[in-house]
Amino acid sequence: MVTLGVNIDHVATIRQARGGVEPDPVSAAAIVELAGGDAITVHLREDRRHINDRDVKILSDTVKTRLNLEMAATEEMQKIALEIKPYSVTLVPEKRQELTTEGGLDVVRQKEYLKEYLKPLLSVGIIVSLFIDPDLEQVKASAETKAQFIELHTGQYAECFDTPKEDKIFNDLKEATKLAQELCLKVNAGHGLNYQNVKRIISIPGMVELNIGHSIVSRAVFVGLAQAVKDMKYLLDNFSI
Ligand code: PXP
Repeated sequence: MVTLGVNIDHVATIRQARGGVEPDPVSAAAIVELAGGDAITVHLREDRRHINDRDVKILSDTVKTRLNLEMAATEEMQKIALEIKPYSVTLVPEKRQELTTEGGLDVVRQKEYLKEYLKPLLSVGIIVSLFIDPDLEQVKASAETKAQFIELHTGQYAECFDTPKEDKIFNDLKEATKLAQELCLKVNAGHGLNYQNVKRIISIPGMVELNIGHSIVSRAVFVGLAQAVKDMKYLLDNFSI
Protein backbone atom coordinates (compact mmCIF):
# COMPACT_ATOMS: atom_id res chain seq x y z
CA MET A 1 0.00 0.00 0.00
CA VAL A 2 1.36 3.43 -0.93
CA THR A 3 1.33 5.77 2.08
CA LEU A 4 0.45 9.46 2.16
CA GLY A 5 2.67 12.26 3.39
CA VAL A 6 0.68 15.47 3.55
CA ASN A 7 2.58 18.67 2.86
CA ILE A 8 1.00 21.42 4.97
CA ASP A 9 3.15 24.34 3.74
CA HIS A 10 0.17 26.07 2.17
CA VAL A 11 -1.73 26.20 5.44
CA ALA A 12 1.16 28.41 6.54
CA THR A 13 0.99 30.31 3.23
CA ILE A 14 -2.55 31.41 4.15
CA ARG A 15 -1.37 32.44 7.62
CA GLN A 16 1.47 34.48 6.13
CA ALA A 17 -0.96 36.28 3.80
CA ARG A 18 -2.04 38.26 6.86
CA GLY A 19 1.07 37.84 8.96
CA GLY A 20 -0.98 36.62 11.93
CA VAL A 21 -1.39 33.31 13.74
CA GLU A 22 -4.14 31.55 11.80
CA PRO A 23 -4.56 29.05 10.32
CA ASP A 24 -1.95 27.24 12.41
CA PRO A 25 -0.08 24.44 10.58
CA VAL A 26 0.31 22.70 13.95
CA SER A 27 -3.48 22.28 14.20
CA ALA A 28 -3.53 21.22 10.53
CA ALA A 29 -1.01 18.46 11.25
CA ALA A 30 -3.19 17.06 14.03
CA ILE A 31 -6.26 17.03 11.76
CA VAL A 32 -4.27 15.37 8.96
CA GLU A 33 -3.14 12.64 11.35
CA LEU A 34 -6.64 12.06 12.73
CA ALA A 35 -7.93 11.75 9.16
CA GLY A 36 -5.39 9.03 8.32
CA GLY A 37 -2.39 10.89 6.90
CA ASP A 38 0.71 8.74 7.35
CA ALA A 39 3.27 11.55 7.64
CA ILE A 40 3.51 15.32 7.88
CA THR A 41 5.80 17.10 5.45
CA VAL A 42 6.95 20.70 5.80
CA HIS A 43 9.47 22.69 3.80
CA LEU A 44 11.48 25.14 5.88
CA ARG A 45 12.68 27.53 3.21
CA GLU A 46 15.62 29.85 3.60
CA ASP A 47 13.27 32.86 3.28
CA ARG A 48 10.68 31.36 5.71
CA ARG A 49 7.94 32.33 3.28
CA HIS A 50 5.46 29.86 4.81
CA ILE A 51 6.67 27.35 7.42
CA ASN A 52 8.87 28.97 10.09
CA ASP A 53 11.23 27.80 12.83
CA ARG A 54 8.49 27.89 15.47
CA ASP A 55 6.31 25.55 13.37
CA VAL A 56 9.08 23.03 12.88
CA LYS A 57 9.99 23.05 16.57
CA ILE A 58 6.43 22.48 17.76
CA LEU A 59 5.71 19.92 15.05
CA SER A 60 8.79 17.95 16.06
CA ASP A 61 7.22 17.58 19.53
CA THR A 62 3.61 17.05 18.53
CA VAL A 63 3.57 15.00 15.31
CA LYS A 64 2.56 11.46 16.20
CA THR A 65 3.15 9.86 12.82
CA ARG A 66 6.40 10.92 11.10
CA LEU A 67 7.76 14.40 10.48
CA ASN A 68 9.46 14.77 7.11
CA LEU A 69 11.48 17.99 6.89
CA GLU A 70 12.13 19.28 3.39
CA MET A 71 15.13 21.55 3.25
CA ALA A 72 18.01 22.78 1.11
CA ALA A 73 21.42 21.21 1.71
CA THR A 74 22.81 24.22 3.57
CA GLU A 75 24.76 24.49 6.79
CA GLU A 76 21.94 26.38 8.51
CA MET A 77 19.39 23.66 7.69
CA GLN A 78 21.73 20.86 8.71
CA LYS A 79 22.10 22.50 12.13
CA ILE A 80 18.32 22.79 12.53
CA ALA A 81 17.77 19.17 11.46
CA LEU A 82 20.37 17.93 13.93
CA GLU A 83 18.68 19.93 16.68
CA ILE A 84 15.09 18.87 16.09
CA LYS A 85 15.84 15.39 14.69
CA PRO A 86 12.84 14.85 12.39
CA TYR A 87 12.05 11.28 11.36
CA SER A 88 13.29 12.10 7.87
CA VAL A 89 14.85 14.85 5.85
CA THR A 90 14.18 15.36 2.15
CA LEU A 91 16.86 17.44 0.46
CA VAL A 92 15.55 19.74 -2.25
CA PRO A 93 17.14 22.41 -4.42
CA GLU A 94 16.02 25.91 -3.54
CA LYS A 95 15.99 29.08 -5.58
CA ARG A 96 14.92 32.34 -4.00
CA GLN A 97 12.69 33.54 -6.85
CA GLU A 98 10.81 30.31 -7.54
CA LEU A 99 7.13 29.91 -6.68
CA THR A 100 7.72 26.31 -5.66
CA THR A 101 10.50 23.72 -5.99
CA GLU A 102 11.18 23.77 -9.72
CA GLY A 103 13.49 20.88 -10.46
CA GLY A 104 15.25 18.01 -8.79
CA LEU A 105 18.64 18.09 -7.07
CA ASP A 106 21.64 17.73 -9.32
CA VAL A 107 23.12 14.83 -7.37
CA VAL A 108 25.52 13.95 -10.20
CA ARG A 109 27.22 17.34 -9.87
CA GLN A 110 27.01 17.58 -6.06
CA LYS A 111 27.72 13.94 -5.23
CA GLU A 112 30.85 14.44 -3.14
CA TYR A 113 29.34 17.40 -1.28
CA LEU A 114 26.15 15.48 -0.52
CA LYS A 115 28.02 12.39 0.67
CA GLU A 116 29.72 14.51 3.35
CA TYR A 117 26.58 16.54 4.06
CA LEU A 118 24.54 13.41 4.78
CA LYS A 119 26.96 11.81 7.22
CA PRO A 120 25.98 13.72 10.41
CA LEU A 121 22.27 13.32 9.61
CA LEU A 122 22.57 9.58 9.03
CA SER A 123 24.75 9.14 12.10
CA VAL A 124 21.94 10.35 14.40
CA GLY A 125 19.41 8.08 12.71
CA ILE A 126 17.61 10.57 10.48
CA ILE A 127 16.36 8.92 7.27
CA VAL A 128 17.52 10.89 4.22
CA SER A 129 15.72 11.22 0.92
CA LEU A 130 16.95 13.09 -2.19
CA PHE A 131 14.42 14.86 -4.41
CA ILE A 132 15.47 14.16 -8.00
CA ASP A 133 14.11 14.20 -11.52
CA PRO A 134 13.39 10.77 -13.04
CA ASP A 135 16.82 10.58 -14.66
CA LEU A 136 18.82 7.35 -14.47
CA GLU A 137 22.15 9.10 -13.91
CA GLN A 138 20.67 11.01 -10.96
CA VAL A 139 19.34 7.74 -9.54
CA LYS A 140 22.76 6.08 -9.78
CA ALA A 141 24.49 9.05 -8.14
CA SER A 142 21.88 9.11 -5.37
CA ALA A 143 22.61 5.48 -4.52
CA GLU A 144 26.27 6.39 -4.06
CA THR A 145 25.52 9.09 -1.46
CA LYS A 146 24.16 6.50 1.04
CA ALA A 147 20.75 8.20 1.21
CA GLN A 148 18.11 5.54 1.89
CA PHE A 149 15.38 7.12 -0.25
CA ILE A 150 14.87 9.15 -3.36
CA GLU A 151 11.74 11.20 -4.00
CA LEU A 152 10.98 11.35 -7.70
CA HIS A 153 9.84 14.76 -8.94
CA THR A 154 6.44 14.29 -10.54
CA GLY A 155 6.05 17.95 -11.57
CA GLN A 156 6.69 17.31 -15.25
CA TYR A 157 4.34 14.32 -15.24
CA ALA A 158 1.65 16.53 -13.67
CA GLU A 159 2.18 19.20 -16.32
CA CYS A 160 1.98 16.66 -19.15
CA PHE A 161 -0.97 14.76 -17.69
CA ASP A 162 -3.63 14.12 -20.30
CA THR A 163 -1.37 15.28 -23.15
CA PRO A 164 0.54 13.18 -25.72
CA LYS A 165 3.70 13.62 -23.59
CA GLU A 166 2.23 11.89 -20.53
CA ASP A 167 3.24 8.32 -21.48
CA LYS A 168 6.89 9.19 -22.05
CA ILE A 169 7.33 10.96 -18.72
CA PHE A 170 5.36 8.27 -16.88
CA ASN A 171 7.69 5.69 -18.37
CA ASP A 172 10.70 7.69 -17.15
CA LEU A 173 9.24 7.58 -13.63
CA LYS A 174 8.72 3.82 -13.90
CA GLU A 175 12.24 3.18 -15.18
CA ALA A 176 13.77 5.41 -12.50
CA THR A 177 11.82 3.57 -9.80
CA LYS A 178 12.95 0.19 -11.14
CA LEU A 179 16.61 1.17 -11.26
CA ALA A 180 16.44 2.72 -7.78
CA GLN A 181 15.02 -0.49 -6.36
CA GLU A 182 17.78 -2.51 -8.02
CA LEU A 183 20.26 -0.18 -6.29
CA CYS A 184 18.50 -0.71 -2.91
CA LEU A 185 17.00 2.77 -2.78
CA LYS A 186 13.43 3.15 -1.58
CA VAL A 187 11.26 5.40 -3.72
CA ASN A 188 8.82 8.17 -2.83
CA ALA A 189 7.32 10.65 -5.28
CA GLY A 190 5.67 14.03 -5.22
CA HIS A 191 4.97 17.46 -6.61
CA GLY A 192 1.92 18.50 -8.57
CA LEU A 193 -0.03 15.35 -7.74
CA ASN A 194 -3.80 15.68 -7.48
CA TYR A 195 -6.93 13.54 -7.24
CA GLN A 196 -6.87 12.83 -10.99
CA ASN A 197 -3.24 12.29 -11.90
CA VAL A 198 -2.26 10.35 -8.75
CA LYS A 199 -3.82 7.04 -9.82
CA ARG A 200 -1.16 6.22 -12.39
CA ILE A 201 1.65 7.04 -9.97
CA ILE A 202 0.35 4.69 -7.29
CA SER A 203 0.27 1.89 -9.84
CA ILE A 204 4.08 1.97 -10.09
CA PRO A 205 5.30 -1.22 -8.39
CA GLY A 206 7.15 -0.65 -5.13
CA MET A 207 6.29 3.04 -4.71
CA VAL A 208 6.51 3.74 -0.96
CA GLU A 209 5.04 7.16 -0.19
CA LEU A 210 3.61 10.19 -2.00
CA ASN A 211 4.06 13.71 -0.67
CA ILE A 212 1.07 15.81 -1.65
CA GLY A 213 0.29 19.36 -0.59
CA HIS A 214 -1.29 21.90 -2.88
CA SER A 215 -4.19 19.79 -4.17
CA ILE A 216 -5.14 18.60 -0.66
CA VAL A 217 -5.05 22.08 0.88
CA SER A 218 -7.00 23.41 -2.14
CA ARG A 219 -9.72 20.78 -1.72
CA ALA A 220 -9.76 21.47 2.01
CA VAL A 221 -11.04 25.00 1.32
CA PHE A 222 -14.27 23.42 0.03
CA VAL A 223 -14.70 20.18 1.96
CA GLY A 224 -12.51 20.60 5.05
CA LEU A 225 -9.02 19.26 5.66
CA ALA A 226 -10.05 15.93 7.18
CA GLN A 227 -12.30 15.09 4.21
CA ALA A 228 -9.64 16.18 1.71
CA VAL A 229 -7.11 13.84 3.36
CA LYS A 230 -9.63 10.98 3.49
CA ASP A 231 -10.43 11.42 -0.22
CA MET A 232 -6.74 11.13 -1.12
CA LYS A 233 -6.23 8.19 1.25
CA TYR A 234 -9.14 6.42 -0.43
CA LEU A 235 -7.38 6.66 -3.79
CA LEU A 236 -4.06 5.41 -2.37
CA ASP A 237 -5.73 2.54 -0.54
CA ASN A 238 -7.75 1.44 -3.53
CA PHE A 239 -5.45 1.98 -6.49
CA SER A 240 -2.14 0.70 -5.08
CA ILE A 241 -0.94 -2.62 -6.46
N1 PXP B 1 7.65 16.97 -2.59
C1 PXP B 1 8.57 17.97 -2.62
C2 PXP B 1 10.00 17.60 -2.51
C3 PXP B 1 8.17 19.32 -2.71
O1 PXP B 1 9.10 20.30 -2.73
C4 PXP B 1 6.79 19.62 -2.75
C5 PXP B 1 6.34 21.04 -2.81
O2 PXP B 1 6.77 21.73 -1.69
C6 PXP B 1 5.88 18.54 -2.69
C7 PXP B 1 6.33 17.24 -2.64
C8 PXP B 1 4.41 18.78 -2.71
O3 PXP B 1 4.04 19.34 -3.94
P1 PXP B 1 2.55 19.84 -4.16
O4 PXP B 1 2.31 20.95 -3.19
O5 PXP B 1 2.55 20.30 -5.59
O6 PXP B 1 1.65 18.67 -3.90
